[in-house]
Amino acid sequence: MGLLDGKKAVVMGVGNQRSIAWGIATAFQREGAELAFNYATERLRENVEKLVVTLPGHERMPVMPCDVSKQEEIDAFFAKLGEQWGRADILVHSIAFAAVEDLRGRFHEISRDGLKLAIEVSAFSLIALTRAALPLFAKAGGGSVMSLTYNAVDRVVPSYNSMAMAKAVLESATRYLAADLGPQNIRVNTISAGPLRTLAGSAVKGISSARDLMEEKAPLRRNISQDEVGNVAVFLASEMSRCVTGATIFADNGFNVLGVAD
Ligand SMILES: NC(=O)c1ccc[n+]([C@@H]2O[C@H](COP(=O)([O-])OP(=O)(O)OC[C@H]3O[C@@H](n4cnc5c(N)ncnc54)[C@H](O)[C@@H]3O)[C@@H](O)[C@H]2O)c1
Repeated sequence: MGLLDGKKAVVMGVGNQRSIAWGIATAFQREGAELAFNYATERLRENVEKLVVTLPGHERMPVMPCDVSKQEEIDAFFAKLGEQWGRADILVHSIAFAAVEDLRGRFHEISRDGLKLAIEVSAFSLIALTRAALPLFAKAGGGSVMSLTYNAVDRVVPSYNSMAMAKAVLESATRYLAADLGPQNIRVNTISAGPLRTLAGSAVKGISSARDLMEEKAPLRRNISQDEVGNVAVFLASEMSRCVTGATIFADNGFNVLGVAD
């Protein structure tokens, strides 16, 4: 018996095999969830489809376009999902984008348009996707929404400039959505993952040294994996976390508790 038996989960943000969203999808599948996926661009479609066919029961899994910067694609995605599934129980937002020049460089030189883009794609999208999923959650009698953040919000991390601002919005939106949607039995949380070598991760200069530092100094003295984040996501998606909402849950081997690492 799986922790997510009978649950329908929309997993948004698979780009390739290393994506955190893929770690979450495989953990959800192991626990018995039905899955639906998006791809952000036509270029990524093949990547996502090739991964999905490796899953048992893939014939029944919707795989549809959804670029979160286009409202019409969000609307079409959830309208089609509504026709196919009728309801949804879980929404995973594992999406981020920023222009490289707005991640690196001097913070005070960050561009107006670059900051807008990072916040729109990486944070406003959580609100837009959650809103679009509401009719499907209503049919399920509630829902669990989760996203991925990074502890560059409370701490300054070099090369994270515009994304740090976007994650601050994402974390705040998590709390506001949780308060707004709690009465509809919809929980909203975010997972603050440690550094992982993914496409998005490699856009941030210094991901390797961040991983070295984690292995050397984190209380658990090791790095995290996509699978481990997947297991935290299972907890947030399942009834085991029915009293948890509005939370930022750290999946970082305790690194966030350190002031000065010895
Ligand atoms: N890798 C890390 O070290 C790390 C640590 C903490 C949090 N995160 C967060 O995890 C999430 C997933 O990132 P990842 O590391 O798995 O990298 P990834 O590159 O595999 O995933 C990012 C995904 O965002 C999607 N995306 C970008 N723009 C989009 C758009 N306009 N519409 C729809 N989708 C779009 C991409 O297609 C990609 O699938 C991100 O929110 C990231 O900030 C990553």
